[in-house]
Amino acid sequence: MNGVDRAAPLVLGIETSCDETGIGIVRGRSLLSNTIASSMDEHARYGGVVPEVAARAHLEALVPALTAAVAEAGITLDELDAIAVTSGPGLSGALMVGVGAAKALSVALDKPIYAVNHLVGHVGADILDESGTPFEYPTIALLVSGGHTSLLLVRDLVSDVELLGETIDDAAGEAFDKVARLLGLPYPGGPEIDRLAAVGNQTAIRFPRGLTHPKDMAKHRYDFSFSGLKTSVARWVEKQQDLGNEVPVADVAASFREAVADVLLTKAIAACADHGVPRLLLGGGVVANARVRELAAERAAAAGVALRIPPLSLCTDNGAMIAELGAQLIMAGHAPSTLDFPADSTLPVTEIQVH
Ligand code: KG4
Ligand code: ZN
Repeated sequence: MNGVDRAAPLVLGIETSCDETGIGIVRGRSLLSNTIASSMDEHARYGGVVPEVAARAHLEALVPALTAAVAEAGITLDELDAIAVTSGPGLSGALMVGVGAAKALSVALDKPIYAVNHLVGHVGADILDESGTPFEYPTIALLVSGGHTSLLLVRDLVSDVELLGETIDDAAGEAFDKVARLLGLPYPGGPEIDRLAAVGNQTAIRFPRGLTHPKDMAKHRYDFSFSGLKTSVARWVEKQQDLGNEVPVADVAASFREAVADVLLTKAIAACADHGVPRLLLGGGVVANARVRELAAERAAAAGVALRIPPLSLCTDNGAMIAELGAQLIMAGHAPSTLDFPADSTLPVTEIQVH
């Protein structure tokens, strides 16, 4: 790693694990560019992300996004100290586009490459948040998006991340999208439900809170399940229709949103209390949800837990968080990855860097 600036490395990050093509550029802890191209619109008519469509979209978006990011950062590619890329977890075909591009850049520019974990990247986003001092470790991190719902204990960003629990079926965002669909709302469903819920009554219907009964908490204390909730909403709506009643869509949306927010925060705050960690970091697209944010603030304050929510542009999938995780690895003296690393759709969160 001759010539690499270890104090404040200039790192380009590439993120293609789902439907966002993210190219980020950071110098040390500073954000220089966070360029994102999303193929979300192309998935709308299918009601969810179609892996093959996402992969093709990455291929088209990558070079324009790279060009835009470099221009915005005001740098040239040969000034880079390293390339960082998401090697997993995520959609295989989508990941392969980013991994292939990163390897090509690394070879062509003769720069070291860091293959990193997407979920840990979400935690690294906190460092780029200029609204306050980043969290000290350890911290609990709750990551909620269309692709993941994970609760992590982060003792050290570059060397010690433990998966406390995750969803055993649908991701929280996926549940929002599926429930929106059954209510006849467009994709992505999260923002639609959030908007309707604002004028609904959240106590109108008591929907189930998955994996929160005492017997479930023994085995799945930090795990999530949203598929039973989705089915329960479907049954409730069908019953109203059978009875010839008009479906109170806003009340359903508000009650469903309340059930999701309640489960997410109950488990996250329990993780903080159980581990004696008074810090909670949120990440992922579902963090845009008004009730999730409100309940997080309420419950964290009541439990004496400091709460951090980075700006949404750093919460949703992006390349800047990947670049930052790469920069942190360099600053901590970690060696680069070799060029043999794969795109690993099921990369465990404990594997922060793939060698
Ligand atoms: O992190 P993200 O942009 O990336 C992917 O998972 O690809 O998250 C997208 C997810 C979608 O499922 C979307 O419905 C959900 O986040 N989402 C929301 C809200 N805004 C986006 N869910 C609930 N409430 C919202 N306001
Ligand atoms: Zn993500």
